[in-house]
Amino acid sequence: QSKAVGSGLLFSLRQFFPRFLSPSLPGPLSLPFLGNMLELTRDHLPNHLTSLAQRYGSIYRLNCGNTTIVVLSSAETIREALVKKWSDFAGRPHSYTGDIVSGGGCSISLGDYSEEWRTHRRLAHSALQRCCAQSLHSVIERQALSLRQVLLGYNETPVDLSEDFTVAASNVITTLVFGKEYEKTSAELQRLHGCLNEIVSLWGSPWISALDTFPLLRVARRDDIIRSHLQEYKVQCHTEGTGGTITASLLQSLDQPLGVTKKVALTETHVHMATVDLLIGGTETTAAWLCWTVAFLLHRPEVQSRVYTELCTVLDTRYPQYSDRLRLPCLSALISEVLRLRPVAPLAVPHRATRDSSIAGYFIPKDTIVIPNLYGAHHDPAVWTDPNTFKPERFLDGGMASTRALLPFGGGARLCLGESIAKMELFLFAAYLLRDFQFLPSGKDSLPDLTGIASVVLKAKPFQVIVRPRP
Ligand code: HEM
Repeated sequence: QSKAVGSGLLFSLRQFFPRFLSPSLPGPLSLPFLGNMLELTRDHLPNHLTSLAQRYGSIYRLNCGNTTIVVLSSAETIREALVKKWSDFAGRPHSYTGDIVSGGGCSISLGDYSEEWRTHRRLAHSALQRCCAQSLHSVIERQALSLRQVLLGYNETPVDLSEDFTVAASNVITTLVFGKEYEKTSAELQRLHGCLNEIVSLWGSPWISALDTFPLLRVARRDDIIRSHLQEYKVQCHTEGTGGTITASLLQSLDQPLGVTKKVALTETHVHMATVDLLIGGTETTAAWLCWTVAFLLHRPEVQSRVYTELCTVLDTRYPQYSDRLRLPCLSALISEVLRLRPVAPLAVPHRATRDSSIAGYFIPKDTIVIPNLYGAHHDPAVWTDPNTFKPERFLDGGMASTRALLPFGGGARLCLGESIAKMELFLFAAYLLRDFQFLPSGKDSLPDLTGIASVVLKAKPFQVIVRPRP
């Protein structure tokens, strides 16, 4: 009885004094001055953070200067923080440079959690839904068909497809956003990608200091490029009445009176930054996933044959529609397995605790930086048998139970804004490619390396492939 009283007392004390009485977070030894900074400079950071999780558990801390970083490496802890306690962990790290990069906090991806941010995200989300309902399917189909033409043109010579995938993914977004698509060789596209790639590196930086050394000149260059696109687009809207794009919808919402959906007045800077967010979020991610899919299929050609047979049996000679996905379980399993093994945003985007809270019984003070290690959660041996092996079969025949542990798009208030676009893109691009082509290694003993290069986006190392048209 005295034991029960003791634990009851401890429980109530923890409720009132969580900071002092909750257990301290495990983590590697913190060095004088450096703390655990060196841990964050390792090659393939997602892999390294996952190996630390094997030693310290699915929640541990790293000390970097005055900042505590908490790394979550299981679906359970990530769900607790991002979904169950979403408003406690919906913030983003602050920094002087981050503020400038995000247009004075007007970016959706880097902006901190506030009423203004919520209004901005809500309006961007509904503009996106509206535009996607009208045209997303046909926009992706058009890009899939033009990608097909490009691949046919290679005449089975070995090629690196990463740039073609980037152009296809980027054209989906630029069509949705500006009603415009580009040729692979166009100078305008090169300029746009050049500046976006540099800025994408900011998304995953847990270090305030890294943000503060970011060259601001690049931000000015990005803003000039986007501004000129927006200006051109507005003139076009006036003369040709181009509507139906996300930008048109966002510009219209600026004129709407304040109300339930729009609680704060938004400005053109918000439209500008939403455009940047969509272009950054929507280009490298989808392209990287396509490269990973081809890389894994080269390692397991029988999976490729199985998906091809399924496509031919279910669809006969027609091209697939997104509504066919439930009738194509092998293709859906392939998509899930690539997202599991190589989540293209492996550490999501760092979060910040907006108030004192807790995760898995540990006290987490306000302003702690939280890294959702999606890569770690997707390799958790407690959930996935043989976690390092590419096995789409795990999602077939009743193996669907673990889809709850699949979190490639994050969750909660910061769930990937482009999730619905991405899901349709992955499905249609993969279905079109695998229906029309067989992917073969470029030579004997030349299978792609599957470790990858990890920055904010987890990309496959460059590799060549032979693309053979199906009869
Ligand atoms: C954020 C994954 C495609 C736009 C994110 C996050 C992840 C993610 C993990 C971070 C969530 C967090 O902070 O916890 C992916 C994957 C994709 C993909 C796996 C494709 C395979 C796209 C596309 C777009 C997009 C196509 C836009 C058209 C965004 C934006 C954010 C975001 C704007 C920031 C959301 C916010 O901070 O509120 N994405 N994404 N993503 N993504 Fe995606």
